[in-house]
Amino acid sequence: MAVRGDQTSKMSHIESFKRDVDEGLGAKNKHLPSRYFYDKRGDALFVEIMNTPEYYLSRAELEIWTDQSNRILENLQVNSHGVDVFELGAGDGTKTIELLKVLNGHSYDFKPIDISQNALDKLEDKIKATMPQVRVNGIRGEYFQALKEIQSDRKKIILFLGSNIGNLDPAQSEDFIGKLRSLLRTGDKLVIGFDLKKPKSVVLPAYDDSKGFTRDFNLNLLERINNELGGNFNLALFDHSPEYDEDTGVARSYLESKVDQKVYIKAIGKEYSFQKGEKIHTEISRKFTLEEIKRVASRQNLRIVETFFDSNRFFTDIIFEKEEQ
Ligand code: AVJ
Repeated sequence: MAVRGDQTSKMSHIESFKRDVDEGLGAKNKHLPSRYFYDKRGDALFVEIMNTPEYYLSRAELEIWTDQSNRILENLQVNSHGVDVFELGAGDGTKTIELLKVLNGHSYDFKPIDISQNALDKLEDKIKATMPQVRVNGIRGEYFQALKEIQSDRKKIILFLGSNIGNLDPAQSEDFIGKLRSLLRTGDKLVIGFDLKKPKSVVLPAYDDSKGFTRDFNLNLLERINNELGGNFNLALFDHSPEYDEDTGVARSYLESKVDQKVYIKAIGKEYSFQKGEKIHTEISRKFTLEEIKRVASRQNLRIVETFFDSNRFFTDIIFEKEEQ
């Protein structure tokens, strides 16, 4: 698989990791970027999260792609010249494989983009094993960096599924959607998966599963700082603490210090103090209403081609194309 990911990008990974950690833990309201969740252990924990009974998102979206794949395909309007299917944050590709199945018979290339090399390798193996005829070309990178890789002479389908968009704050997500829009030519399609607003009694457990996979996923961020930057976090002295606000649709995850403590990070050469009860904000997972999505689409000159829902209306996948003006 042609993947960009050499020594230089490893170096810059450590440099940007150090900078982000120092900036986040030095701030008045401490925070760490959620993109650092996804190392090998984080990927594995996320797969465990997706399989918990509480994490309704994966099941709801998979139901859409398994039950409605033919209707999705029709609305993507694939022609005889074939397509390039790009997927941002492809992860383990479970939903996309449903699309690839119905695309069978059309000429297409699959270009998954993910921050995790490990996730890309696994996805490639999985597709090679089940659909050997598919050409897979993985691209390793963060969303904003990866945009420049989204080019094709053929029709493009850009997938941004799994409510990954919810990890971006309102300004970032609107900016990102605008950038995706600028990549679309006539006939190209953009598909985004949004988690819909729903009661706290449903959302909060999805971020606090009873087996503790989400807790371990959140704490893994500190373990990664220990392993990669020589930190001395004692994981037993932090709690996983999620919140959900029904009105704004914002779920946030925090790591809360159980005691007054100091943590030293060797690669940065600094010590950081935490007070008992102090929280590090680690993730935002936004939920939307259809009205909010429609407003963003119209501001960003996108036309909604079709909306798809699961039977509970927990989740929606929406096909967009550029609004011709
Ligand atoms: C992969 C970003 C969609 O925000 O729901 C799951 C990640 N975090 N449990 C989400 C996640 C905690 C997930 N996304």
